[in-house]
Amino acid sequence: MIETKTALPNELDLSAYWMPFTANRQFKANPRILVSAEGMHYTSADGRKILDGVAGLWCVNAGHGRKEIAQAVERQLQTLDYATAFQMGHPGAFELAARLARIAPQDLDRVFFVNSGSEAVDTALKIALAYHRARGEGHRTRFIGRERAYHGSGFGGMSVGGLMNNRRAFGSMLPGVDHLPHTADIGRNAFSTGLPEHGAELADHLERVIGLHGADTIAAVIVEPMSGSAGVLLPPKGYLEKLRAICDRHGLLLIFDEVITGFGRLGTAFAAQFFGVTPDMMTVAKGLTNAAIPMGAVIAKRGIHDALMTGPEHLIELFHGYTYSGHPVACAAGLATLDIYEREGLFERAASLSSLWEEVVHTLSDSPYVIDIRNLGLVAGIELEPRPNEPGKRAYEAMVDCFENGVLVRQAGDIIALSPPLIIKEAQIHQIVDSLSAALSRVANRDAIRGGLG
Ligand SMILES: Cc1ncc(COP(=O)(O)O)c(C=O)c1O
Repeated sequence: MIETKTALPNELDLSAYWMPFTANRQFKANPRILVSAEGMHYTSADGRKILDGVAGLWCVNAGHGRKEIAQAVERQLQTLDYATAFQMGHPGAFELAARLARIAPQDLDRVFFVNSGSEAVDTALKIALAYHRARGEGHRTRFIGRERAYHGSGFGGMSVGGLMNNRRAFGSMLPGVDHLPHTADIGRNAFSTGLPEHGAELADHLERVIGLHGADTIAAVIVEPMSGSAGVLLPPKGYLEKLRAICDRHGLLLIFDEVITGFGRLGTAFAAQFFGVTPDMMTVAKGLTNAAIPMGAVIAKRGIHDALMTGPEHLIELFHGYTYSGHPVACAAGLATLDIYEREGLFERAASLSSLWEEVVHTLSDSPYVIDIRNLGLVAGIELEPRPNEPGKRAYEAMVDCFENGVLVRQAGDIIALSPPLIIKEAQIHQIVDSLSAALSRVANRDAIRGGLG
């Protein structure tokens, strides 16, 4: 086992905190504790600077410690800490919704606020059901997700998601959910730069699923335009266009889960604009507030919203929401974040860095165990050959090695994912890739020693 050198702040008791999506026992034996952050760097408990190669969790797109956001949050807390969310309003929520509508794809201009990506997904699924019902098509109740998708950890998102480990312990989930095949195909697309050539025909499975269940039983199809959490799975050229066409042909709503791809990750405000494919709803979170305050949203086509604005005007149209929907402090953080993106041209910056990013990450093709590299915008996935009988162990060791040497990368199974803040500098791109290359060499050396001893 690799020992981390992190010193703990005095008397920090690790036992009570049950950590999310973490190997708790392994972590607590060798904790990695972060104590502050600024710009592109974290500081660890033992005072080391750690270059953030994953923007926190794909969310700190404008870099850490942005004073403008902190000041906006403080101002808001001192003015209006909380406003009753149901049957009351406050200016920030209306302002932020209007700002989001301005940068969203055409026709998507109605915004429902939530507190996370998971809540955004469950909300979008509920809106889809309510929309069809309002139009007299309440028989459309099925959802179609995709293998290896991640749509958060609520029951809805887990059900349309396609990651076995996230599903197997949790029973039968939502009924009436089917899945499309995932789009990873290393056999045909290994080491593609940008969008892979092969696999648009995988979208045709949607026709087969429709043939099995009947179009009039299906409410919506939900996909990540680019899957992040499963380890950066890209849509083949033409794939999303085909999904859109099939959904149109059969009256199915198309939901893009843009929780990772939203707010500049691919060099445009949203992936929908990058691909030129417009969904009926988008789910967003993460970069919406630069992760400073939890917040998510569903951005829906006006027609979906309007279809629900029926019945007596004194009655609630959609029986859904959260105590913290449109929380004033989150809205203040969101507005300050959008200001930064705009003022600093960060989406354009991501676009202009993406070819250098592509070139540099693909130099890892010479490193040990690398069987595929995928990139798009400021995202990359480096897939490793798994160690026999120890799935995920090699990538874990590489991640820990990078951390010990001052770079934070993310591990998903045997894939290393990279998604730095959009403010990254050229030298820092090299630092991330050099660190990963050195880590993989050290992992290979240790494997060789182990093999020699064995
Ligand atoms: C595509 C996608 N949807 C939903 C989620 C869930 O977001 P949250 O963790 O904010 O609930 C994530 C988180 O990584 C995500 O990547």
